[in-house]
Amino acid sequence: MAVSRTFSIIKPDATRRNLTGAVTKMLEEAGLRVVASKRLLLTEEQAGGFYEVHKERPFYGELVEFMTSGPVVVQVLEGEDAVKRNRDVMGATNPADADEGTIRKAFAESIEANTVHGSDSDENAATEIAFFFNDDEIVG
Ligand code: TYD
Repeated sequence: MAVSRTFSIIKPDATRRNLTGAVTKMLEEAGLRVVASKRLLLTEEQAGGFYEVHKERPFYGELVEFMTSGPVVVQVLEGEDAVKRNRDVMGATNPADADEGTIRKAFAESIEANTVHGSDSDENAATEIAFFFNDDEIVG
């Protein structure tokens, strides 16, 4: 399996509880390497644009509010089959459905405050990485 990249966000519920290191450790233990990272306070425009695909969903407004409620850590992760590897260690969107050993099972507070984002395809990974990082900020 080829080495590839994915995009991750450590969400405000996790930074608020000082879990950036604990979450990153689980990503690293899953075989992913952090090749770019920065801590940001998202603007409403950034959060709204990032989750544009959910614009018509009933939870969109609250999701944007949550994602701007505190700092996030955006990361580029590299590893074999990175998108799937990351989705596997993240666990299900709703922590009530997440498997043991996953980040959301360990840390998520609710379906909204669910600790991490991870790209769901190689195509979306490329778009999301470009949303937050220039090429020279990614050091593999
Ligand atoms: P989604 O892309 O379905 O999940 P995932 O993050 O696992 O790829 O949804 C994006 C985010 O939207 C999700 O992480 C949290 C939020 N969300 C809600 O707040 N309520 C919901 O009912 C759903 C489905 C998602």
